Amino acid sequence: MTTIPTLNQPLSELNEQDFANFADLACKLIDDAQNETQLQELKVALQGKKSEITVLSKQMGGLDANGKKTYGAYLHELRTRLSKAFDERGAFLAFLALNEKLASEQVDISLPARGVATGSLHPITHITQRMKQFFTQAGFSVATGPEVESDYYNFEALNIPDHHPARAMHDTFYFDAHYLLRTHTSGVQIRTMESSEPPLRIICPGRVYRCDSDQTHSPMFHQMEGLMISKSSNFAELKGIIHEFLNAFFGKEMTVRFRPSFFPFTEPSAEVDILSDNGKWLEVLGCGMVHPQVLRNCGINPDEYTGFAFGMGIERFAMLYYGISDLRLFFQNDLRFLKQFA
Ligand code: FA5
Ligand code: MG
Repeated sequence: MTTIPTLNQPLSELNEQDFANFADLACKLIDDAQNETQLQELKVALQGKKSEITVLSKQMGGLDANGKKTYGAYLHELRTRLSKAFDERGAFLAFLALNEKLASEQVDISLPARGVATGSLHPITHITQRMKQFFTQAGFSVATGPEVESDYYNFEALNIPDHHPARAMHDTFYFDAHYLLRTHTSGVQIRTMESSEPPLRIICPGRVYRCDSDQTHSPMFHQMEGLMISKSSNFAELKGIIHEFLNAFFGKEMTVRFRPSFFPFTEPSAEVDILSDNGKWLEVLGCGMVHPQVLRNCGINPDEYTGFAFGMGIERFAMLYYGISDLRLFFQNDLRFLKQFA
């Protein structure tokens, strides 16, 4: 540690010069302090309770009036010089410390910016919009219905009474005897026919639920229902619209087959399959002429009106459109997958 200067004499034997020399040496030490810690150590040594100044101050009591005046002034001058030196050095060290801190925390403004990552539409949203676009241009309006649906709209009114074997085609999530998660968008057909007068032309995109999961099935998926009711609708028109739609949607000729099928709410009924790149047929939709009993259930006279309906699997269209072989990828929310559709 630094050697602290000393006066080393009783107070009464010191003169002004002794005090001045001491002050010079002490101030030099203070000016040389390299950091706050060293400065504190010097404060204790030079101004503390055991410092020489304190010891000498205690000797003032033994001096006569004249001595008190003289030495009082010397000591006062010494204390003043030391305090000033401590203040100045303290301020300078604080300034250095601040600069050092600022330099170490410096931001390099020349570094390239991180950039703003923007989100993008989910592929299913994108495909839904693309499908909607065709039908709205063809004069269809968009209808919606609840995802928590009653047994009546999901089954009964669609000609699927309780215990009908066709219920087994839908692996239904039931809440209770009356409510369920809709298994298809076909209930919206009923709701629309109940609330509006024919002629009708609607589509209804939305979520549907079935207890089903593999490469081409997921427990929650999307369908787009279509319904057209008029005095002259027929199966040829249905087939024509589906063909037009498929060509417009894919922008190229797809290999398509209409396969006879069965739905209790349409007669006749068909399902449409498309040949995918992997050489397998993928079912994309079900369709048919609205069953007369369904029209009657909604207060429409089947002798006056006919109609057709279809229900498309939106994920299936997305799979074919993007060439994806497992539809579960759509719902894993893996950004590496989703980013490819930005
Ligand atoms: C129906 O749901 C009928 N409501 C369709 C319909 C509407 C027929 C109007 C007649 C008139 P289906 O169960 O086949 O039919 O389902 C329709 C389409 O949804 C299927 O062709 C398929 O593309 C898709 N789909 C069915 N189940 C799943 C599933 N678990 N995951 C993904 N897509 C599915
Ligand atoms: Mg089917």
